[in-house]
Amino acid sequence: MTDSIRELTILQPDDWHIHLRDGKALGTTVPHAADSFNRVICMPNLVPPVKTVDDARAYRERIMTHLQNSDISAERIAAFDPRMTLYLTDNTTPQDIEMAAKSGIVQAVKLYPAGATTNSADGVTDISACVDVFEALEKYDLPLLLHGEVTQDHVDIFDREKRFLDEVLAQIIIKFPTLKIVVEHITTSDAADFVLAQGNHIAATITPQHLMFNRNHLLVGGIKPHFYCLPILKRESHQKVLLDVATSGNPKFFLGTDSAPHATDKKEATCGCAGCYSASIALPLYATAFDSVGKIDKLEGFASRFGAQFYGLPVNQSTITLVNTPMQVPNAYPYFDGTSLTPLLAGETLPWSIKD
Ligand code: NCD
Ligand code: ZN
Repeated sequence: MTDSIRELTILQPDDWHIHLRDGKALGTTVPHAADSFNRVICMPNLVPPVKTVDDARAYRERIMTHLQNSDISAERIAAFDPRMTLYLTDNTTPQDIEMAAKSGIVQAVKLYPAGATTNSADGVTDISACVDVFEALEKYDLPLLLHGEVTQDHVDIFDREKRFLDEVLAQIIIKFPTLKIVVEHITTSDAADFVLAQGNHIAATITPQHLMFNRNHLLVGGIKPHFYCLPILKRESHQKVLLDVATSGNPKFFLGTDSAPHATDKKEATCGCAGCYSASIALPLYATAFDSVGKIDKLEGFASRFGAQFYGLPVNQSTITLVNTPMQVPNAYPYFDGTSLTPLLAGETLPWSIKD
């Protein structure tokens, strides 16, 4: 009986979608990520974005400097391996892709439709103009990571993911049949079905918030800005399907927290920023979600095997142990310049925790 498991040791997980930000923010975000994850795919939506291999190399060095200066163990420092991404713009060239593929540090390329989410103003305005770049990605076997939402003003925010799949992704797949694609942070049964219908070169990441919550959590009884992220939480029937596929053991679905820090005052505002901060508690969150449907035994594949398999990387050697012992999520973490960072479920109790 899986629901009697009190302790679970799994291979060390990786996070295939995280926002660490830059500058002083790294002092908080890097140790949180390195505590739980070996490899992390670092999103490139900085200001300005990470557009070239040189940008990526410099950003990785800034991340590593903050790691050395943190108080995490020498063992965790040695294990932490930030993998970089380039931000696709209208000006990205096939040469940029070739250099990325040969760099040894760039793991993928991220496409944000311009205006889709936080710091996406420099994103792609016309995806049909990316043909040369997509050909290069296919040639060099570099995955394309998608923020899968259309951005037209008139499209309802709850329909933006499905419209992207039907109108944009379906076309990309026809034209580039062997291009490796990750549909990032899927939020609908439509996206789950879409990914299931494709070959193994098309996969999806799923965040803890989309497994644990739906739009009622965001909106009923008052607006809860810490549940506001993009793509936005959908109705409960979608949440259930995401939980089904994440816990199904299908290697197309793997862990990507989309942990996206915004200072508390930027979230609790008249026009609050999109993004949930979860890096520090991601594993207890996922364990809670998997356990809620009696599938804690499926966590290791989702968290520690399938992403590495997709990216063609070895699985990690070390392990981490989760225990069915409650933990209290901190109300906030100190961030930078006197600001604070409020995590998902701040102040609440989670049934699972990481064993010391
Ligand atoms: C992310 C961020 O803050 O950078 N926000 C979010 O709501 N997920 C951007 C993104 O991944 O869409
Ligand atoms: Zn993201």
